[in-house]
Amino acid sequence: EAGALWGGRFASGPSPALQALSKSTQFDWVLAQYDIRGSKAHASALAAGGYLTADELAEMRAALDELAARVADGRFVAAEEDEDVHSALERGLIEVAGVQLGGKLRAGRSRNDQIATLVRLYLLDRAAVLRELLLDLVEAILNQALAHPEAILPGRTHLQHAQPVLLAHQLAAHAWPVIRDLERLRDWAGRASASPYGGGALAGSSLGLDPRLVAAELGLGDPLENSIDGTSSRDVVAEFAFVCAQIGIDLSRLSEEIILWNTKEFGFVKLHDGFSTGSSIMPQKKNPDIAELARGKSGRLIGNLTGLLATLKALPLAYNRDLQEDKEPVFDSVAQLEVLLPAFTGMVATMSFDTARMAELAPQGFSLATDVAEWLVKQGVIFRDAHEISGELVRFCEERGLELHEPSDEELASISEHLTPAVREVLTIEGSVNSRVGAGGTARARVDEQLERLAERIAEF
Ligand code: ARG
Repeated sequence: EAGALWGGRFASGPSPALQALSKSTQFDWVLAQYDIRGSKAHASALAAGGYLTADELAEMRAALDELAARVADGRFVAAEEDEDVHSALERGLIEVAGVQLGGKLRAGRSRNDQIATLVRLYLLDRAAVLRELLLDLVEAILNQALAHPEAILPGRTHLQHAQPVLLAHQLAAHAWPVIRDLERLRDWAGRASASPYGGGALAGSSLGLDPRLVAAELGLGDPLENSIDGTSSRDVVAEFAFVCAQIGIDLSRLSEEIILWNTKEFGFVKLHDGFSTGSSIMPQKKNPDIAELARGKSGRLIGNLTGLLATLKALPLAYNRDLQEDKEPVFDSVAQLEVLLPAFTGMVATMSFDTARMAELAPQGFSLATDVAEWLVKQGVIFRDAHEISGELVRFCEERGLELHEPSDEELASISEHLTPAVREVLTIEGSVNSRVGAGGTARARVDEQLERLAERIAEF
């Protein structure tokens, strides 16, 4: 049987139905080069343990390099009957090196410690790619913020006009979660770098091999302390899927704003033609499909995480074949983000803002009522009363279709003796924004500092 790693105790070969179910090469082939690197490292550990001569080691490593080259250019591929990437590659090694040498490599290791290690190596590489893509995104957000240092936007809570804020402040609010995603990937990489290799099937090896040799050659940290844990835990995989899901959620929240801002009713942003799509029937349409796909894919990323967690729940130790189900969801999460992020970043980098429209809407909806209340507090009115007075001013204006700065001096005085004409000083958008000088606030000075710190954080990764 081509590539079968077992069979001695079986009277018959596997049924076609079992083979079809069990086979994983259609998705684990992406691990092939990692498997070969692991095999080269394992060969060195075998030689150090006295199981391969120096010549055999050299020959084995050369054969593995040859196999890697054949895999890379497609001369060696998984066959229909290969159960998984490990089986296929042993078949390939024997093709290159012969069974006398190739048949020695499997001593002292199991697919269980192999696969647990390979998925870490793969995800560590993907994490490095994701880091670059996320940095591109934060830079695009930061550049948009820097390009609009003074633009004002109606800040919202409950999607209602709340208080005016700087556009740069709002944009940066979408950058910080991505910085935390970058931190998460970095923290995750620390845990993911421990090596399960050497754990064998579950109980460790009796051959006296040094798992530190393998770990070091693979660029990993110390071997895991417990071979049962090492071969059966997938929390590192689930955590990676979580980080992907959180990235998706962070993108989906910016997406939702872009989708709203891009409507006729808001009219805050225009998307670049290269990053928006048309309709097959309505010639006038220009749709924010990238943002919608980001929003949609965030659901898929959450699904990948929850599916994986459900697979892991209550799974007894040690290895169970259920664990083969860890790969497709997390591989899918990676693939989705790798295709989504460049498009998303392009959309962000090229969108243009209608700052006049945003400034026009910013004072509407009584968004300066809090400023009136806080101005009253500065005049010595207790906040409870100030809130009431400001609320009465809002009601007065709402009933008459006025904005807050529009009532006459007499009308102001009729609402409260504390509402002197001087209150109009805070009834400008710029005055409101620039009064919010507290830490993390929307005053220009604070936002400028914030953007500098954001640039520093970007440089950290
Ligand atoms: N294809 C398996 C997986 O992905 C590799 C480990 C198989 N181990 C086993 N004892 N069948 O988990």
